[in-house]
Amino acid sequence: MKINTLLLATLLLTSASMADEMTVKQEGVKYIKMLGGALKTELQKEMKADKTGVGAVTFCTNEATKLTAEINSKLPDYAKVRRTALKLRNAEKNAADELDTKIMQEYVASIEAKTFTPKDIKVVEDGDVTRVYKPLLAKNVCLVCHGSKISKVIQEEITKGYPHDKAVNFEENSLRGVVVAEIKKH
Ligand code: HEC
Repeated sequence: MKINTLLLATLLLTSASMADEMTVKQEGVKYIKMLGGALKTELQKEMKADKTGVGAVTFCTNEATKLTAEINSKLPDYAKVRRTALKLRNAEKNAADELDTKIMQEYVASIEAKTFTPKDIKVVEDGDVTRVYKPLLAKNVCLVCHGSKISKVIQEEITKGYPHDKAVNFEENSLRGVVVAEIKKH
C-alpha cells in the first residue's frame, strides 16, 4: 500500500513537471512565431514592392531591431525573444552567448550528420530562465541577402549598413541562425 502511494505520488509529480515543461515550450514557440511571423510578413511585403531586394535590405537594416523591440513589448515581463547566429550581420544587436553558440553547434552537427529536422525545438534550462530554441535554415529566399551570389545593388546596401558583415556565403539548408525565447521562472 505504502509503495503504491509512493508510486502514485511519483507518477503525479512526473506528469506535473512534464506538463510544466510542455507549457513553457509551447509558450516559447508562441513568442518565436510572433517574431518570426512579423519579420517574414514584412520581408515578403518589401521583396514584392521592390523586386531588386534593395527595399527589403533597407527594411531589415532599419526595422529588424525595432520590430524585435515592438514584439518584445507585447510579451509578459518575464519573457523575451531574439535572433542570433554563429555568423552575424549585426554583431552589436544579435550577438550569441556561450549557450546560444553551443546549441547552434549542435544543430550544425545534426545537419551534417543528416539527423536534423526543422522541428527540433530545444528547451534548455539556464539558471532561473528556460530557453526555447528554434533553428532557422538558409532557404533560397534568404540567399538573396545571405548567399554567395548577392547582386551588386544589394551588396552595396548591405556593406553600407554592416561594414563587418559575416552573414554571407550560406548554402541552402545550412543553419542561418536561431530564434530564442527566454522565459524566466515566475
Ligand atoms: C533583403 C535582404 C535579406 C533577406 C532576403 C534575408 N535577410 Fe536576414 N538579415 C538581413 C539584414 C540586413 C540583417 C541585419 C538586421 C539587423 O540589423 O538586425 C539580417 C539579419 C538576420 C539574422 C539575425 C542575425 C544577424 O546576422 O545579425 C538572421 C537570423 C537572419 N537574418 C536570417 C534570415 C533568414 C532565415 C532569411 C530567409 C528567410 C533571411 N534572413 C533573409 C537581410 C536579409
